[in-house]
Amino acid sequence: MQPVARHRTALSRGALSRPLALALADGVLCADQSVFDYGCGKGDDLRNLRSLGVDADGWDPSHRPAVERRPADVVNLGYVVNVIEDPQERARALADAWRLANQVLVVAARMTWDSRDLVGRPHGDGLVTRTGTFQKFYEQAELAAWIEQITGSRPLAAAPGIFYVFRDEARAQAFLSSRVYVYRPRVAIDPHAVYEAHQEVLAPLVEFLTAHARPPRPGELTADDHAAVRDAFGDRPQAEAGSPGHERRLLGAGQGSAAE
Ligand SMILES: C[S@@+](CC[C@H](N)C(=O)[O-])C[C@H]1O[C@@H](n2cnc3c(N)ncnc32)[C@H](O)[C@@H]1O
Repeated sequence: MQPVARHRTALSRGALSRPLALALADGVLCADQSVFDYGCGKGDDLRNLRSLGVDADGWDPSHRPAVERRPADVVNLGYVVNVIEDPQERARALADAWRLANQVLVVAARMTWDSRDLVGRPHGDGLVTRTGTFQKFYEQAELAAWIEQITGSRPLAAAPGIFYVFRDEARAQAFLSSRVYVYRPRVAIDPHAVYEAHQEVLAPLVEFLTAHARPPRPGELTADDHAAVRDAFGDRPQAEAGSPGHERRLLGAGQGSAAE
């Protein structure tokens, strides 16, 4: 008998889940791409995606077991791996979802800090909650390393607990270059061209963003790396991370004049 009630983990959602909403906002998922939601729960994401005109289908062992698991441009594995108590089955779910992803796999799992108020009894590498569901909580680096181990591809962080795994390295690079751009008021620049021209200097920043999906705080880049960016971009560079609509400072304030 299954020791935990996995079907109870599926939520009812009024809006798109965060991983899919992020994928849309990041341009990783577009309306003309097909989506397969692996472990889709009650199917609310499918309904919401279809209402946006996206060709979306999904399978869930408890809620949509009869649907055939089929390849799609974008496959979503949203908050599934953390409810599976058997590590081998967990790895199989990730490997299966990756196999179906023609272009990109979106993986989301709950984070350790999310578990602070949760009461439960230890079970395997996670815990069983009072409602009888299993939850495995991840550290960001742990989740990234596990995804890379199973898929053989380096995942790129979209947000804490949310990763993109691209099939094609060129698309991964395009996503990274869209994350790192240089913003100077009233001067139109091509972020891709800037990224290409400064790839080497930006590499430590890109590495940091890839793992953390946030700008580094003071001290998280070496002084040399920080100085290299300052030298490349002038006295008051505004190296930013994120899409132009989500301007975030790439270099943390207080790490020198470059980011002040
Ligand atoms: C927390 S829900 C997430 C549902 C949906 N992806 C969402 O974000 O709303 C976890 C889902 O994983 C499903 N699940 C459990 N074991 C699975 C497996 N081995 N493969 C795929 N899905 C599984 C459960 O049935 C449940 O619906």
